[in-house]
Amino acid sequence: MIKPSCVCGLSVLFLFLILSTQAWAGHDTESPAKKGILLVAFGTTVPEAKGALEHIQSQVATRFPGLPIYWAYSSRQVRSTLADSGTHYDSVPTALARMADEGFTHVAVQSLHTIPGAEFQALRETVTAMTGLPKGIKHIELGQPLLSSHEDLVACAQTIMDTLPKKRTPQDAVVLMGHGTHHAANIYYPGLQYYLWQLDPLVFIATVESAPFLDDVRRALQSRQVQTTYLLPFMAVAGDHARNDMAGQEEDSWTSILTSDGLTCIPVLRGTGESEAFVRLWLDHLHIALERIGAVASK
Ligand code: CO
Repeated sequence: MIKPSCVCGLSVLFLFLILSTQAWAGHDTESPAKKGILLVAFGTTVPEAKGALEHIQSQVATRFPGLPIYWAYSSRQVRSTLADSGTHYDSVPTALARMADEGFTHVAVQSLHTIPGAEFQALRETVTAMTGLPKGIKHIELGQPLLSSHEDLVACAQTIMDTLPKKRTPQDAVVLMGHGTHHAANIYYPGLQYYLWQLDPLVFIATVESAPFLDDVRRALQSRQVQTTYLLPFMAVAGDHARNDMAGQEEDSWTSILTSDGLTCIPVLRGTGESEAFVRLWLDHLHIALERIGAVASK
């Protein structure tokens, strides 16, 4: 016969087993906080241009040590061209899903785009959609692109001036090549021109796809009787546009057009992502996102 005290002991054991089994079967234990960084670039298919992205990665690792760094390319076309040659890059949703699977609870996503245009808007919508999914990443913060406020434009215009080729004399013009877009955020390019002219009337910006147009700049160069101009990409990487549309030998490249106008052209194949000073501006935005997920102390 089992004594009453033994019955009591057995039922406690039984209850414990039931509870612990339920806990194991029904609930993942609360995962500890795991924080990381996702860098998002448009991407590039030009191998020589990849150095700019590697430079950004090394500056991020130096400034924010101890945080794992992941990458995504926002351009589907770039990803599929690279995939054809056997190199795989994640899209933003894939990278975030991968990070969720690896147990990340807090992620700072940094846009390496120049303006808050269509690429950035899609990134923001993806981040919103992927925040707070069951068993996903609890907290995602998005860092702004290079230009998104008055302060950014002031800092960027000054950085452009600080990083001009050392050999440039005050009589030489500078023409920056921005990408340009049909998106309303294209206004950042003529906006930046306003800020640049406060610092130097011979520093111009035009874009490949929209305003300001190269023809606007050509007229200004002629009326100011400029003889020599530097040509610089205003894009994170000196990729296809910089190498072909800006510095290429074809007769519709900016170098060919301005040379036919009688100017001496000096193209410089250096993306903003290769310059420590420009990358610092992006990383100031990443710092804000990292503060918001509690991964760095406030400034
Ligand atoms: Co393009």
